[in-house]
Amino acid sequence: MSDHLLQWFETLIRWFHITAGAAWIGTSFYFNWLNNNLRAPEGDAEPEVGSELWAVHGGGFYRVLKYKVAPARLPGTLHWFKWEAYFTWISGVVLLSLVYFLGASVFLLDPSKSSLSPGAGIGIGVGVLAVGWLVYDLLCKSPLGRQKVALAALGFALFTGLAFGLCQIFSSRGAYILVGALIGTIMAGNVFFGIIPAQREMVDAMTAGRDPDPAKGKSAALRSLHNNYFTLPVLFIMISNHYPHTYGHAWDWAILAALALISASVRHWFNLRGRGEKNVWILPVATVAMVALALVSAPKSTATAAASQPVTFAQVQNIVQTRCAPCHADHPTFEGTTSAPKDVRLDTAERIVAAAAQIKAKSVTTQYMPLANLTQMTPEERAVLGRWVDDGARAE
Ligand code: HEC
Repeated sequence: MSDHLLQWFETLIRWFHITAGAAWIGTSFYFNWLNNNLRAPEGDAEPEVGSELWAVHGGGFYRVLKYKVAPARLPGTLHWFKWEAYFTWISGVVLLSLVYFLGASVFLLDPSKSSLSPGAGIGIGVGVLAVGWLVYDLLCKSPLGRQKVALAALGFALFTGLAFGLCQIFSSRGAYILVGALIGTIMAGNVFFGIIPAQREMVDAMTAGRDPDPAKGKSAALRSLHNNYFTLPVLFIMISNHYPHTYGHAWDWAILAALALISASVRHWFNLRGRGEKNVWILPVATVAMVALALVSAPKSTATAAASQPVTFAQVQNIVQTRCAPCHADHPTFEGTTSAPKDVRLDTAERIVAAAAQIKAKSVTTQYMPLANLTQMTPEERAVLGRWVDDGARAE
């Protein structure tokens, strides 16, 4: 019962996290788009107005005005956009704790890479988030913060180094999520410590009738720019656990770095396009790079993972029964598993045959299954499964 309730809790938190994230990214995309599409006001506008935008949506006409600096008088109600970011981060941390910390031995640790205890793994995970934010914040405040490109290059190198390190000690899937959690933490931290204080300063300065402190505004602009480029990579990482062909590869960290670079360049294309600048080459290069990445990361010929001798179905059934069915069955026997994960059941001959392609994809091509190799599947057993699927996956 408690496992069941915990799963409901996790489901609700995940649902909430996605909703808050959609709201956050939605407003962020909207304001980016808005800024790119503001034009000189047509006709009657106060002198303080710098630009405007007309839109039609949901059966109504909208007119948005952007002030050059600030309106002469503050309105009664001023909307801030911050809770989307805070709730996304809070629910993200809860989810990270539920799935990867509470389930550390299954999802975070990988006994084939290191013998960390769950406690040590969690400690490193929390440390990565805290130290990662501090390092990022210091870099932004250092003189390097004024050199956008150098800072971006260093940031990318540091993230790649972190991904490499985490992939050496954690399950690749857990390593990906930790990198994503750090990016998410930095993004939410940027809103909390950088962007919102700058906006508060603007409002306070107006109320007090003085000029706002320009340093805060500059720092907010830098952080907001970073958040813009972080968006696509972080979104990929958040869905990456569905895609073992990315993190399940031997070059897991390099694939993550390449995907981050490609997706940030796509974001760059959108930014340039929004400003009306020429940038024809970025999108084709990104497309070619993505195809190239898919090709170079393709699994080597299955010869490496296939047995040299033909195999019998009895062998296959025996392997699946002992290595997979403890979890993937109508009535799982593996401790803590209450129902077949992802509704994948491998407890009868028919089900094994029907799932042949999946079995190969998850336990031969990538070694994502058995999860954390909890049932201690051997390389020979993987080779047998590979050979059986290659030979037509028949149940004699
Ligand atoms: C210790 C329990 C456990 C064992 C043993 C196990 N799995 Fe899984 N399996 C899971 C869990 C948990 C998930 C859901 C993973 C997730 O959330 O990404 C899963 C998911 C899957 C999926 C669906 C993947 C997807 O992304 O849709 C397949 C296919 C699969 N397992 C096949 C296997 C095969 C084949 C074996 C044996 C070689 C195996 N599993 C052994 C726990 C297990």
